[in-house]
Amino acid sequence: MTSEAGPPPQVVVLDTGGQYCHLITRKIRELGVYSEIRNSDTPAGALNGVRAIVISGGPASVYEEGSPQVDPAIFSLGAAVLGICYGQQLMAQHLGGDVRPGDHGEYGLAWLETNSDAPLFRGIAGRQQIWMSHRDTVAVLPEGFELLGSTETCPVASIGDRARRLYGVQFHPEVVHTERGRQLLSNFLFDIADCEQDWSPRDQAARIEDEIRRTAGDRNVFFFVSGGVDSTVAFTLCLRALGPRRVRGLYVDTGLMREGETEFVRGVFESLAAGVVAVEHAEERFLNALAGETDPEIKRHAIGEMFVTVQEDLLESGHYLEGNWILGQGTIYPDTIESGGSAKADLIKTHHNRVAGIQKLIEQNRIIEPLHLLYKDEVREVGAELGLHAELLARHPFPGPGLAIRCLCAAEAGRLELLEDGWLVPVRSVGVQGDSRTYRPVLLVEDPPSTPGLQMRATKLINSISGINRVVARAGAHSPVAAMSVHPAAITAARLERLRRADGLVRRMCHESGFEQKVWQFPVILIPLGTPERPDTVVLRPIDSVDGMTAQSVVMPENLLSEMTAALLGIEGVNAVLYDLTHKPPGTIEWE
Ligand code: XMP
Repeated sequence: MTSEAGPPPQVVVLDTGGQYCHLITRKIRELGVYSEIRNSDTPAGALNGVRAIVISGGPASVYEEGSPQVDPAIFSLGAAVLGICYGQQLMAQHLGGDVRPGDHGEYGLAWLETNSDAPLFRGIAGRQQIWMSHRDTVAVLPEGFELLGSTETCPVASIGDRARRLYGVQFHPEVVHTERGRQLLSNFLFDIADCEQDWSPRDQAARIEDEIRRTAGDRNVFFFVSGGVDSTVAFTLCLRALGPRRVRGLYVDTGLMREGETEFVRGVFESLAAGVVAVEHAEERFLNALAGETDPEIKRHAIGEMFVTVQEDLLESGHYLEGNWILGQGTIYPDTIESGGSAKADLIKTHHNRVAGIQKLIEQNRIIEPLHLLYKDEVREVGAELGLHAELLARHPFPGPGLAIRCLCAAEAGRLELLEDGWLVPVRSVGVQGDSRTYRPVLLVEDPPSTPGLQMRATKLINSISGINRVVARAGAHSPVAAMSVHPAAITAARLERLRRADGLVRRMCHESGFEQKVWQFPVILIPLGTPERPDTVVLRPIDSVDGMTAQSVVMPENLLSEMTAALLGIEGVNAVLYDLTHKPPGTIEWE
């Protein structure tokens, strides 16, 4: 089998639509083995010669009509097979076992018990923390298979047939919260499938530059730069591949950026000797595009389309580039999958680099995305290889649509409802549960955010209260919760400014205290919850993650939180400060 860009893959990951599919691939590459993704129903004949096949997790149920399938012949190709989550269920079903719905969903941390001496658990048997995200479970093992491990909720957490080298795990070894997941994958690749190491991101710059020259041909490349890691690395690669005369960057000030961002971007590109990157002021246009919109997907589309409109206007004006141009983007793998770009993933959020205008350019072959095969940490490694500044490479990710997706809106007024475990707040946010998108209200508990065990309780509450996907704790407020309500709100310059101030304040305090190094990202969100005098509430969402695909809410030192809360409550219009306790899944990192 051949590959478009990298070496021939020794491992193919069959995509059954899981949010984790690319993550599996990345983990395999991190172990030094090049791996690519294929549709789940790829015929076995097209997989001849691969050493290992991994079947990913996915949102469907194997017994549902139309659910993603694999070619049963893959199990007799002679390649080693690892089925993960849905992949384990699919394997069990195809080989004569049985899959049934579980009594409870199991989302988040769990404990695996295994004493197996099977090669999959070589050196890692014993009780261990794992990450689960499922409802269905294997109820009857196929012939030839043995049970390798269980959890309290899931009796069949791992199975295997040593002779045929077929293995399954109900949990996700690819996510960082499965503490011995890396070793399990390594056992599978090297001990079971006989793979060899053949991949390192640091060696990719030269290959990518060749690919850029091939794709661009005699055309020039135009970038919208943002000052983020991805677009800067992609820009730098194009600059090296094509030279400064053929690459142009433009920074659009959308009015949705953070404090001090325009100056930062200017500094970065001046240091790249790329000439001064032009700045286009488009604040009014973006505000108008968002006026009155409250739905997250509509907001995302409005911003994405406005990006394209502004871009088309600029390019057509001929002001920046002459001749034949294509658009460069810093798109990386997770952007593609989270927009439903991989064959079967459920659409969680539309990313700004996959809106209609961009799709048209893709169809016309006028897009170049040098990082399309790489994950964030691989991009950082390439960036380091290119000599980019450590401060830039260490920046927390910031979403393309900017503060707009952190400035929540509400179409109508709503009252808080007191439940047994806390207040149900009718502000909806996006979540991802069992690989599907949810859009649900949030539960507010009145305990201080630093209460021991509170995050664990939050996970349990989300699993047991079916109508929610997120839990927040109250860090401080001007009014009692009972006096607050949700009021209709959209994006306005005043609310954006309120959020920008809150975000700037949090960023400064995190930098000065060193807390910024303890988190992977720290979104600050504004929600229309308050009183007529002080209508908005700030939500703090510090998380730890490896690549944004999964994340854990991080507890902040108490004194930092109380100082930060006091400072935030001093901002005009801010009524309360809340602390998001939700992991991903079931919440997403951003609220929209
Ligand atoms: P979620 O909210 O899906 O976020 O858990 C995962 C990561 O993706 C970032 N994100 C975006 N980045 N354009 C981007 O460039 C977007 O539209 C977008 N939406 C979310 C988010 O900040 C987090 O790091």
